[in-house]
Amino acid sequence: MADLPHSVDVRASIRFRFRGRDIELGDFAPRMTLLDWLRIERGASGTKEGCNEGDCGACTVVLVRRAQGAPNFTPVNACILLLGQIDGAELVTIEDLSSAPGALHPVQDSMVTHHGAQCGFCTPGIVMSLFAQHESKPQTLDADAVCDQLAGNLCRCTGYRPIIEAALAAHVVPPQGRWPGTEAMHAGDMLIGDDDQFFAAPASIPSLAALYAAHPDATLVAGATDVGLWLTKNLQDIRKIIWLGRVAGLDAIEAHADGLHIGAGVTLAALAPHLGALHPDLGEVMRRFGSTQVRSSGTIGGNLANGSPIGDLAPCLIALGAQLVLQKGDVLRHLPLEDFFLAYRKQDRLPGEFVHSVIMPPLAAEQAFRAYKVSKRIDEDISSVLAAFCFDVAQGRIGRARIAFGGMAGTPARARNAEGFAVGIRLQDESTWASALSALAFDFQPLSDQRASAAYRALVARNLLTKALIELRGESPATTRIAPPREP
Ligand SMILES: Cc1cc2nc3c(=O)[nH]c(=O)nc-3n(C[C@H](O)[C@H](O)[C@H](O)COP(=O)(O)OP(=O)(O)OC[C@H]3O[C@@H](n4cnc5c(N)ncnc54)[C@H](O)[C@@H]3O)c2cc1C
Ligand code: FES
Ligand code: FES
Repeated sequence: MADLPHSVDVRASIRFRFRGRDIELGDFAPRMTLLDWLRIERGASGTKEGCNEGDCGACTVVLVRRAQGAPNFTPVNACILLLGQIDGAELVTIEDLSSAPGALHPVQDSMVTHHGAQCGFCTPGIVMSLFAQHESKPQTLDADAVCDQLAGNLCRCTGYRPIIEAALAAHVVPPQGRWPGTEAMHAGDMLIGDDDQFFAAPASIPSLAALYAAHPDATLVAGATDVGLWLTKNLQDIRKIIWLGRVAGLDAIEAHADGLHIGAGVTLAALAPHLGALHPDLGEVMRRFGSTQVRSSGTIGGNLANGSPIGDLAPCLIALGAQLVLQKGDVLRHLPLEDFFLAYRKQDRLPGEFVHSVIMPPLAAEQAFRAYKVSKRIDEDISSVLAAFCFDVAQGRIGRARIAFGGMAGTPARARNAEGFAVGIRLQDESTWASALSALAFDFQPLSDQRASAAYRALVARNLLTKALIELRGESPATTRIAPPREP
């Protein structure tokens, strides 16, 4: 049996609530997805499989967990969520919405009245996303909020107008409140399987550290919005899984003198308001990060540890001067975030070492920050280029500069040459900008891929630096932005 030395009481099953019953499951393959369990094992085919990679939302189901005494309705993509990840939740699928035969949930009823479905393939997923929003009782609801909620739900034939109208009309009907959710259970570690193949969910940081040290070949899974695709698309045979979703303290956000300490397990949804409060551009980056479903599951730790050159958080956090905290055994190691990324998909992380947290310093009064995400679509799209700038500005002159890009190299990286030439820029004198703009060509030799050509990326990088300088010079964002930022 795999070693969990800190455990007093190791549970060998997952527990969740489903169709009004408490379920305990101890016999399943670690890599089984929730969608496969629903459709294949339970024959619950109301939840659809479209892309099987988190993009289309046809498989959306809702997890209800209680937080501060109230149910929290979280829409997730069942296709890339592992079955083990629903431990401790109430699972709600499309089959659960009607209270009696023929009695529709207000969202379903409104979809019928407003002709919100044609072929209907997307409809269960769309209804589940709108159901989560409806039962969360937002005080007000407008078309923007509905669009944000549906960013991860693709409809190819009805078109979104009647769907949005249906959501807005349903809002006047009170939530049904039939899903109380379940309380989070951090007590005791969980391990299903044996030394060769397991799904483990340690309940504390010491348990996680001990288990990962004993099994450095295991795959850490936080939200599985990346790992899920390794299973469904690359068909990887992952046998040992350590899920981080039950580790007490790994999901904490704490304010300290040196900034916010953000646990690696903090979801993107929980992180978004904190980043938005730091700077509206960060709020906008988060609003456009994946979709509601992806942000519900995905974490800051997964986004950084994954080492993607086009991950959205890394350039933003590098420009802010964030520190990464890694842990192996009981030893913590701090390093500047930019030093973590060594080469394409190669990070400075030892076997058995995990991302513990990120320290994000506050913005000082003299610091001006900007972040821009450029992608082919506004919603649910990976960046072609993401630029983040943090300048110390005094009397219209740039002092210190931190500039970071995603999508321009094999790793997220600082533009050190451009930073050097940015020092001394006088914002009102465009002739002083030229050296920094030209220096970008020495910082990066980007690649061409399906998202963008090398020439496009180089031009966009230059234009984004120009845009930041224009905005800092005092130009109205109305002249520089396609659309004003919306609150996440
Ligand atoms: C439809 C879709 C849209 C997306 N859109 C975006 C987007 O707009 N921007 C963007 O940047 N990304 C996007 N992503 C990618 C993904 O959602 C993010 O990278 C997310 O933050 C990953 O977090 P996770 O918790 O799901 O990671 P997981 O999939 O659980 O893990 C990812 C990697 O990190 C490792 N890991 C996780 N936690 C730790 C830890 N604490 N310590 C060490 N290693 C760890 C895992 O072993 C794995 O190697 C998208 C993905 C999908 C499916
Ligand atoms: S099937 Fe497309 S998001 Fe899950
Ligand atoms: S109704 Fe056909 S995809 Fe939406």
